[in-house]
Amino acid sequence: MNSELLVSDARHFRVDYEINPYMHTEIQPDLAAAVGEHEAIVAAHLAAGRKVRYVPSAPECPDMVFTANAAVVRGNRAVLGNPPPERKAEVQYFQEWLTWKGYEVVEVPYAFSGQGDALAFGDDLLLAAHGQRTDQRMMRVLAEELDYEVVALQTVSSRWYDLDLAVGVVGLPNTLAYCPAALDAPSLRRLHGLGAELIEVSVEEAAKFALNLVGDGTTVTMTKGAPRLAAELRERGLRVVELDTTELAKGGGGVRCTALTLDNPPGRPSL
Ligand code: ARG
Repeated sequence: MNSELLVSDARHFRVDYEINPYMHTEIQPDLAAAVGEHEAIVAAHLAAGRKVRYVPSAPECPDMVFTANAAVVRGNRAVLGNPPPERKAEVQYFQEWLTWKGYEVVEVPYAFSGQGDALAFGDDLLLAAHGQRTDQRMMRVLAEELDYEVVALQTVSSRWYDLDLAVGVVGLPNTLAYCPAALDAPSLRRLHGLGAELIEVSVEEAAKFALNLVGDGTTVTMTKGAPRLAAELRERGLRVVELDTTELAKGGGGVRCTALTLDNPPGRPSL
């Protein structure tokens, strides 16, 4: 699970605009430190035995390090992200890379935040959010194009502009971490209805991008700012690697945002 990840780099990472509440153009990242944070994340993936693929960032794309928004991939199909105008220039680079790698790439006419708003859970479920960066009509498109059973969720504010800030797929079977205050009441009911083990995360830790983690069943790679969630995960037998993400956080992202999962298992062929 999550053994093949697409990353970019932080060489052109800047805060040129404010499209989420964590971004402030007057607070720029220290570039060398941001590059270092990103390299440490990639090194942690490799140390955990994950495969890492790489698309170089482009100078005109200051958010390209956040590859999670590029698409959501299942089997050999990739539904391409359709980001806000500020990030449109990124799309062609990811589209070219995915096509070159042999993925069947699907373009969509509606706003779509890619894996940022579409988290595979188990083999057949897709936890997908709408209302912030993703149009509600994408729920049907994702079900049709990727053959997932879509669990539609809504976060309560732009503080959770992408679902991967509010919900974390930790990698243990049937286990999710989530921030209850980040989801609306129908979404909470839907989540509880899944019958999964749910680990609750406080707003305080979630706002530090605690849930923006990569888990593969053995290792969880996450930010350093969330000791309570880290302890909960260790109690469940997981190896937890906590990394500095303070510079990347100035763009409103963390560990999960910088990695697009490429090897979600395909759907079962229908008979
Ligand atoms: N600055 C980027 C944006 O607002 C951050 C994206 C983070 N990605 C994520 N999957 N949460 O689009």
